[in-house]
Amino acid sequence: VGLRTRFTELAGIPHPIALAPMGDVAGGLLAAAVSDAGGLGLVGGGRGDPDWVDRELTAATASTDRPWGVGFQAWSTPPEVVERALAHRPDWVMLSFGDPRALAGVVAAAGVRLIVQVTDRDEALQAVDVGADVIVAQGTEAGGHSGRRSTFPFVPTVVDLVTPIPVLAAGGIADGRGVAAALALGADGVLVGSRFLASSEALATGDELEAVVSGRGEDTERSRVFDIARDVPWPSRYPARTMRNSFLERWRGRDDELRADDVARATYQDALAAGNRELAPVWASEAIDLITDVRPAADVLHALVAEAETSIARVADAVD
Ligand SMILES: Cc1cc2nc3c(=O)[nH]c(=O)nc-3n(C[C@H](O)[C@H](O)[C@H](O)COP(=O)(O)O)c2cc1C
Repeated sequence: VGLRTRFTELAGIPHPIALAPMGDVAGGLLAAAVSDAGGLGLVGGGRGDPDWVDRELTAATASTDRPWGVGFQAWSTPPEVVERALAHRPDWVMLSFGDPRALAGVVAAAGVRLIVQVTDRDEALQAVDVGADVIVAQGTEAGGHSGRRSTFPFVPTVVDLVTPIPVLAAGGIADGRGVAAALALGADGVLVGSRFLASSEALATGDELEAVVSGRGEDTERSRVFDIARDVPWPSRYPARTMRNSFLERWRGRDDELRADDVARATYQDALAAGNRELAPVWASEAIDLITDVRPAADVLHALVAEAETSIARVADAVD
């Protein structure tokens, strides 16, 4: 038994599961662990800190011989950082959030395969235009930043728009039932973030792990509050899903006020710098109800596959 799709064939990997390139969280060891277990590990290059990228890509190449890749946020990553990442010889580069054209050119020039994560129909068509080999259709259930479409209706919409390019579903997939559902929606695989955040190899703090393992979907919320407070100029069309905390409670719905309040932002940044974990954002999925333990990434991946196979068999049994 196995889950063979156009994505597994194209990537030359056994399982149709990619690790989301979670900035600062998906380091080289986590990506390597996912790749070694038969998925596609993607290091989270985030906004493009060159030293972090060098260190983590060195760790990835030292730790796996299987296909792996690295992801960047397109709105903020300079082309030089992508070039530097390409020197580490990744098999894949993924681009998310913002116009991918400039960076896609750099990736294509190196002959490396390209994944583009999209959050609406226009972005899906643009991903086709830039020559994406795989397109991730991301819904707002996702941990971290997202657009404004929900995974369930958005995935088949993107599949219809971009066929024959393989599509991965992302956002709210944290167990094998979600993997089975994604395949039923026409996806060729899934991109999973938060479930892998709760794995032994993730670069996550004890507080973050505790929050994700004990939290419920209702404890998460999308906002721009933390980006504004940190002075990170994210395009406003991508709010981020985090766990709720007292800072979010205080500033919810007051984006303009927070933007104008230099003292409040400086106080917040000082608190983070001093290690105040209670005010720090914990980026996490609506699907955290389904995440109840921290396990090695290989165990997470194998459980996703085994549960998906069981789910698919159960559904197939219902057909007479
Ligand atoms: C902690 C965290 C950090 C993330 N950072 C990034 C990032 O830097 N770049 C990116 O493309 N996506 C990032 N994402 C979003 C993922 O690519 C993906 O869409 C999402 O995790 C899928 O939803 P899930 O969390 O429900 O699995 C992040 C997600 C999380 C949970």
